[in-house]
Amino acid sequence: MGHTIVMTGASRGIGRVAAEQILRQSPDVHLLVVARGSSGAQLAAELATDGHTVSYVAADLGSLQSVRSAATEIRDRLERGDLPPLRGFVGNAGIQYTNALTEGPDGFESTFTVNVLANHLFVRMLRDRFAAPARILITTSDTHFGDFKHNMGMVPGPAWKSPDVLAHTAAFPRPDTAAAGRTAYSTSKLAAIYLVHEYTRRLPAGIDAVAYNSGFVPGTGLARNAGPVSRFAMRHILPLMTLTPFATSRNAAGRYLADVVLGTTKAPTGSYVDRGRAARSSQESYDPQRERELWDAAERFTSAYVGRADGLSGDVRSGSSRQTEQ
Ligand SMILES: NC(=O)c1ccc[n+]([C@@H]2O[C@H](COP(=O)([O-])OP(=O)(O)OC[C@H]3O[C@@H](n4cnc5c(N)ncnc54)[C@H](OP(=O)(O)O)[C@@H]3O)[C@@H](O)[C@H]2O)c1
Repeated sequence: MGHTIVMTGASRGIGRVAAEQILRQSPDVHLLVVARGSSGAQLAAELATDGHTVSYVAADLGSLQSVRSAATEIRDRLERGDLPPLRGFVGNAGIQYTNALTEGPDGFESTFTVNVLANHLFVRMLRDRFAAPARILITTSDTHFGDFKHNMGMVPGPAWKSPDVLAHTAAFPRPDTAAAGRTAYSTSKLAAIYLVHEYTRRLPAGIDAVAYNSGFVPGTGLARNAGPVSRFAMRHILPLMTLTPFATSRNAAGRYLADVVLGTTKAPTGSYVDRGRAARSSQESYDPQRERELWDAAERFTSAYVGRADGLSGDVRSGSSRQTEQ
């Protein structure tokens, strides 16, 4: 019997290669891509060649209301039996801004919204719909290490603060600068690892959560908000680095991602997968207190978007259904 994998960030870059690989390697997958605006229909049509089954749901991940609508539609389709059992969620979409001042319609800073809260809201709204064995994969980044070895000086390291500060604009000094925007990015990727650790404590047995790092992948759209010099370098000069061990090609990064999604790369729940193997993430990324605080804050920030009838709040594994909706 087939199964469903829900995937964000499949429209281009690393995710586009991964989506094609997932379909090629696992022909029984129903791949449900979450994409912005009207792009989902075209994306699904392009991916649905060779008899592959692909459908789409529209969502702008910078809007929690939009994520809620998408997750509700997915829940409804699963409930109606329009989709085979849900065995995967791939939160691959990501964004990097050149400031820390971009605010989404919900009042949260946009990097934090797309890279952290959107994934959390999907996990929260779908967690009682997963059919074990299932896997949640969140794409993170080795910029979360914050040292030269992992970011070659291109992205400042994370600067952890209270989640209430991180979730809002101007969380970092000189918030109008690219340095602040990139600090928001690396910090959001550290947050993603914290939540993966917390998911392993909170989700029912049989629903794994892993973090994936592609390494530096030049030539994707990630630097699209950067200035013309950085964009030119990312598109035309830095791709030469894929000839060295310091960078990963888009094709290799997509293949690595697909291998983690499909379980070809062995990675126990809670793992950080660095390209093709489970590895240790930064020392800073193992911090149960921050993990719990971030979980609590993410639950609070997203609670207004979860339907009351869903009864989704609380620790599913313990069976409690703590209602935190306001
Ligand atoms: N490139 C690197 O060096 C690198 C290194 C480590 C980790 N990563 C991570 O890898 C993932 C993929 O990045 P990439 O390098 O492949 O960049 P990319 O080419 O810019 O792809 C980003 C993907 O995220 C989607 N996305 C962004 N904001 C969205 C929103 N508001 N609503 C819906 N979808 C949205 C994009 O959709 P649209 O087509 O609609 O924009 C696109 O599919 C990201 O999580 C990134 O942080 C990248």
